[in-house]
Amino acid sequence: MRTDKFLTESGFLTRKEAVKAVRCGRVTVNGATATDPARHIDPQADTVCLDGAPVRYAPFVYYMLNKPTGYVSATEDGQLPTVVSLLPPEIQKRCPFPCGRLDRDTVGLMLLTDDGALAHRLLAPKNHVPKTYRFACAEPLCPEAEARCAAGMTLADGEQLKPALLCPAPDRMGGEITLSEGKYHQIKRMAGALSNRITALERITFGPLTLDPALRRGECRPLTDDEIDRLRRAAETAGTAQGDRTAHPAN
Ligand code: URA
Repeated sequence: MRTDKFLTESGFLTRKEAVKAVRCGRVTVNGATATDPARHIDPQADTVCLDGAPVRYAPFVYYMLNKPTGYVSATEDGQLPTVVSLLPPEIQKRCPFPCGRLDRDTVGLMLLTDDGALAHRLLAPKNHVPKTYRFACAEPLCPEAEARCAAGMTLADGEQLKPALLCPAPDRMGGEITLSEGKYHQIKRMAGALSNRITALERITFGPLTLDPALRRGECRPLTDDEIDRLRRAAETAGTAQGDRTAHPAN
């Protein structure tokens, strides 16, 4: 395995940072300073250190799922099937969890991982990555819908929302909406505040990731190295980049 890939998969650095760290002489392999990020190492046999501290090889799992309706965004549920049950059995053994929640009847892009630190940073309110949803609604969107979303809507219970970008479909019976926060039933409650009702909801992006059109509902695939790198970069502004398998953010 390449040295830069080893550092990236251990959850310490993005691929770009790993390449730079090697080139800057911050990385040693078996005591000798590494100079080539492409140099092959054996994760089981070689000792890799970053700034003098040993790096334990513990690759995380990162999966994209096209969530079908009827599944709950949880690791366990007494009654209903969970999104985790749609992952391959060998991946389920790694105890992955959903990165954020979708309602049981919402479909589309869901990220599952065992990288608690990355999930936590992606969902931290100060660094909430944008997410886009496609929706259909029961009534045509009212003429002021875009402006009210853009201004930051106040819900019926007084909860104040951040500005959201609403792009209605030509017939205004749905559209796409991009949120930069993740409140409980947020889009359904926004529709309610506009005297409307959501009849179908699908998440199509999560930060830099777009739902893979090759995935049918219920299907999943591992993220590519590039997708993992882009997610790490999206999360970079919040917290540190150390891996943490224990933190399971709720939303
Ligand atoms: N908003 C909702 O109302 N439901 C979801 O599942 C996601 C966003």
